[in-house]
Amino acid sequence: MRRLLLLAALAAVACGARPPKEETMAQVRERVLADAQAQAVYMDSLLTVMAGPDRPSLCPRNFRDGKLVTSDIDWWCSGFYPGVLWMVYEQTGDEAFRDLAVKHTLPLAELLNHKTDHDIGFQLMSSFGKMAQDCDPEFLGSEGISPDSVLTRGAAALASRFLPTAGVIRSWDHGKWNFPVIIDNMMNLELLMDYGDREVAEKHALTTMKNHFREDGTCYHLVNYADDGTVLGKQTVQGFADESAWARGQAWALYGYAMMALKEKEAGHMDLADTFYGVAAKLEDWLLPRLPEDGVPFWDFSQTDYRDASAGAIIAGGLLKLREYRDAKDDGKGLRAAERILRTLASPEYLAEPRTNGGFLLKHSVGHLPNKSEVDVPLTYADYYFLEALTLYPVSTN
Ligand code: GLY
Repeated sequence: MRRLLLLAALAAVACGARPPKEETMAQVRERVLADAQAQAVYMDSLLTVMAGPDRPSLCPRNFRDGKLVTSDIDWWCSGFYPGVLWMVYEQTGDEAFRDLAVKHTLPLAELLNHKTDHDIGFQLMSSFGKMAQDCDPEFLGSEGISPDSVLTRGAAALASRFLPTAGVIRSWDHGKWNFPVIIDNMMNLELLMDYGDREVAEKHALTTMKNHFREDGTCYHLVNYADDGTVLGKQTVQGFADESAWARGQAWALYGYAMMALKEKEAGHMDLADTFYGVAAKLEDWLLPRLPEDGVPFWDFSQTDYRDASAGAIIAGGLLKLREYRDAKDDGKGLRAAERILRTLASPEYLAEPRTNGGFLLKHSVGHLPNKSEVDVPLTYADYYFLEALTLYPVSTN
């Protein structure tokens, strides 16, 4: 039998039937970038057809029953499609994408005239934040656009939600809670760290570290505070159960604390940097052995029904930021897990064919399953964090 197998293998080699060589991560990134260009243009064409004089600033939200579902700028995800466009511009240098990105970013300035909540951080950092980072100041000057002034005003609006007696920024204005703070809010701190009151961001992160996390390093989704800072309750609203680990919640925590650790390190505040790093590193230790073989988590770590590509993409980004914090001096476990996630997301199981999927890159994300909302659909933030993680991945290691 062994002889037969050996002969078969030799025959296969003789016929040139070698196993396909695995793509390098640089090739994966190039392939996804080519798809992203096609999809971004396709999505813009769909939005242009759907928009009219009464709906000038439509934002993509998801794709259901063969149709692109849109939102207005107030939806917390309104910045992610502009952010995808900025990343495509950054990677290609093609000015057609800069112009598309400007077109989809500018309407979000109107948010400053609306009632906003903590998500102003997501909305502005992914749009105007990327514009400030990627766009030539001379071009912006000639167009009379000032992302910094929008970002500074947005940061002030976010800081105005801080309650000093509790040491946290309020997340939601809706619902039955006195003063709800969700773990997602860690992501919004980047706006304060870069354009606003860093001390407010630091205090929020320290209070969240104390009250949101369990002994094992995972976190609750929501903590409800009394006005004096007393904790009234802890819940996991978008997860399976209050005590379960909602995958995207863990992803926000991992990425949010890794981001804070890096910002403090850049500023030379090593005490705070190490404190925030410790939160993310403990969660990383919990997550790594619990990711499925292909890396993409189920929507809640207690469940095995729906995968959540968005949580996978955010976790990949968080792991890569943690590795950056360690100056790549570690055992490479986080890097390998990030690679596994990104390769799976770049496979046909998740990555859509160009001109399908409403122009979204990825399939199979979960928004709010307990609400039966956005289950197994494409979502803008999955695409955004996927592209971002691919640009964070150190291709020279592969
Ligand atoms: N920030 C809301 C969510 O993660 O669904």
